[in-house]
Amino acid sequence: MNSSRQTSSSKPADTSASATHENRVCIIGCGRVGMASAYALIQSSFIRELVLVGRSQEQTEGEVMDLEHAVAVPMKPPVRIIHGDYAEAARSSVVVVTAGQATGGPEESRLDLLSKNVGTVRDIVGKLKAEGFAGVLLMASNPVDILAQVAQEVSGLPAGQVIGTGTLVDTARLRGLLAEELGVEPRAVDAYIIGEHGDSEIAVWSGARVAGVKLGRYPGVRALPNYGDLLDRVRRAAPEVVKRKGHTAYAIGLCVQRICEAVLRNERAVLAVSTLLQGEYGIEGVYLGTPCVVGKNGVERVIELDLDASERKGMRASAKLLKDMRKGLPEKDAAQPGRRGGQG
Ligand code: 2OP
Repeated sequence: MNSSRQTSSSKPADTSASATHENRVCIIGCGRVGMASAYALIQSSFIRELVLVGRSQEQTEGEVMDLEHAVAVPMKPPVRIIHGDYAEAARSSVVVVTAGQATGGPEESRLDLLSKNVGTVRDIVGKLKAEGFAGVLLMASNPVDILAQVAQEVSGLPAGQVIGTGTLVDTARLRGLLAEELGVEPRAVDAYIIGEHGDSEIAVWSGARVAGVKLGRYPGVRALPNYGDLLDRVRRAAPEVVKRKGHTAYAIGLCVQRICEAVLRNERAVLAVSTLLQGEYGIEGVYLGTPCVVGKNGVERVIELDLDASERKGMRASAKLLKDMRKGLPEKDAAQPGRRGGQG
C-alpha cells in the first residue's frame, strides 16, 4: 500500500508559505552532527540563511563566526549565518534537531539514549510549537525513530512534516559496501536498509539491483560475503567509527543536507527516511525507515517495498521493538500513536 500524506484539506498544506524565509534552514544542536550538517548545508546552493541554535551561547557564537568566515571563501553563493533563538528558528522552512547525547562508546546502542534525549526533544519541539513553527521538522537525534514520533506528537504537525533521518545513512553504507565489492559506484546500487535506524534494521536483498540487474544475477555477486555478514557490517558501521574516533558526523551530516535539499527544492526525491507507518507493511502507529517521496511538504508519499517473508518478519520485529521501547517511557514522554495527515 502506498499512501500519500495529504492533510485534512483536499490539497497538501503549503508549508513553505508559512516560513517567512523560504530558503532558511535552522539547526538546533551545535554538536558534531549539527556542525557537520551545517558545514554541508553552507556548501549547497539551495539555502540562503542558516540559523544555529545551541545550548552554549559562546560556543554557538564561535560556530557562527567560523561559518561566516567559511561562506566568505569565494566558492559558493553566500549564506547568511544567524545565531538565532526559537523565534528565528520558527521562521525557517526546515528545522533540523541534532541536539541530545550521542552514544558514549561502541557498546552503547542508540536505543540506550532514549531516556537521556527524550526530555531534550520534548523541550525543543515544545518551544518551536510555542513560536508557531509550521515547516518541516527533521529529527537526527537518536534514537531517531522514536524521537521523531515524540516530536510529531508534541508538535501537532501533520505526520508528513515530521521526518527522521531514518535509514538513509544505513542505506548509503549498504550501497557503498556493495559498490566497493562489485566494482561500481554507489549510485549504481539500488538497495535499501529499512526499519529501525539501529540494530534491528534489515536489508531488502530481494529487491536489490545493480545497474538495473537483480543483485543475485550481477557479475561478481558470487564473490560477495554472505548477506548476513554484509548486513552485520552495515549495522556495526557506526559503532566501528565510534570505537575509533568517538562519534560519527560526516555521513549523517550529508544525509541531513540531502533531505533539506529535497524539501527546499521540492524535488520529490525518494529517500529512506523515518516516517509514521499507517498500514504499510501491515504496521500502524510507529516511525520506521522506508523509502519515501520527499518534497516541500516533507514526506509526500510512503513507498512500501515488496518484501519476502523473512524481510517482512524483520520489519515487524523492528516495529515491535520500537513500540515496546516507547511503552517503557514515562507517561509524559510516551509518544501516543501518531494520527493520519492533519494535526497530529
Ligand atoms: C549514524 O549512524 C549518528 O546514528 C548516526 O552515524
